Amino acid sequence: MKKSICLMLSFVMTVVMLAGCVMSASAEKLPILGAGIYSSTDNFNSYIGKAIRNASNGVFECNVDDGQQDQSTQLNQIDTAIAKGAVAIAVSVVDVTAAPAIIEKVRENGELPIIFFNKEIEDKNVVNSYDKLFQVTSTGGDYGAAIEGQMIVDYWKAHPEADKNGDGKIQMINLMGDPGHTAAPPRAQYVKSTIQDAGIEIDMLEEDTGMWDTTKAKEKMDAWISKYGNEIEFINCANDAMALGALQSIQAAGFNEEGAQSEMFIPVIGIDALPEVLEKIRTGEMIGSVLQDANTQGQMIVKIAQNLYEGKDPLADTGFEFDTDGSKAIRVPYKPITVENVDEAAATYEK
Ligand code: GAL
Ligand code: CA
Repeated sequence: MKKSICLMLSFVMTVVMLAGCVMSASAEKLPILGAGIYSSTDNFNSYIGKAIRNASNGVFECNVDDGQQDQSTQLNQIDTAIAKGAVAIAVSVVDVTAAPAIIEKVRENGELPIIFFNKEIEDKNVVNSYDKLFQVTSTGGDYGAAIEGQMIVDYWKAHPEADKNGDGKIQMINLMGDPGHTAAPPRAQYVKSTIQDAGIEIDMLEEDTGMWDTTKAKEKMDAWISKYGNEIEFINCANDAMALGALQSIQAAGFNEEGAQSEMFIPVIGIDALPEVLEKIRTGEMIGSVLQDANTQGQMIVKIAQNLYEGKDPLADTGFEFDTDGSKAIRVPYKPITVENVDEAAATYEK
């Protein structure tokens, strides 16, 4: 009797163990999402990459490739993902003109869905050349710059001392994004038109591209801070990575070290609301930023890929609709962030 119980127990245990093996084997066999960002040196893209990885957990097997700002590297990464059996591709493309080549790859390989994110494909012929092409990005048109401009207006009105020379004009520095990027020209344009439409004149001391990049922005700012010093009344940056570079530069020259209490202070503003910038807003070293919700964008990229894999409508359960401008894009809205609501931006990184 005892022996048979023992036998039965060991049989049950074997079955349980086997079932466990089968289950973990099937858990390892998630479908592959071939995702990639154009460069890991781009802070904002790195946060979208992180969000894609997090959202893929339990849904897709997904390593986010680093395109290293090199289109042929990224094309090879896409080839590799397809060869491994990826069920969808999602990329922020290095060069938007490579979109047709990527579309051909996915078309020829079982008509895989392609989701372009961050760097929007604007050419509608390209967008409409493939049914399974979708885009995930942020509000188009001004790309957050009207909010940024309004934040400058609000700050300027609330801080009469910001007009250091009392001429009623803003002596401004404008650091722009990569000129080849969809969002760069509109951001430069709308920030200025919003300020001017509010009846405030801009005296542009310097305006140049910092290529979205902290180091490049710092180099530019180093030259300008030694040329203009405390004559500068505002530093507007088309993204936070450049704002961080500009801040490093002016802090080395003795500005903004004590946050808003600094004896020598130049208001600095950016776009993205990166976590590292939220810290600067808390301390008053920067006056604000415009949240571009990387986490929601990453989650939507994964959700669209999952919906398509499951044969559902691409936007099922997303709460989003495609823009009516024919871009086949969902656009996550921007939001102004100052010291007053910095926690709201921080919370988006914890979702
Ligand atoms: C913008 C973002 C920038 C940079 C750029 C690169 O949307 O604000 O920080 O990431 O995309 O494509
Ligand atoms: Ca002035």
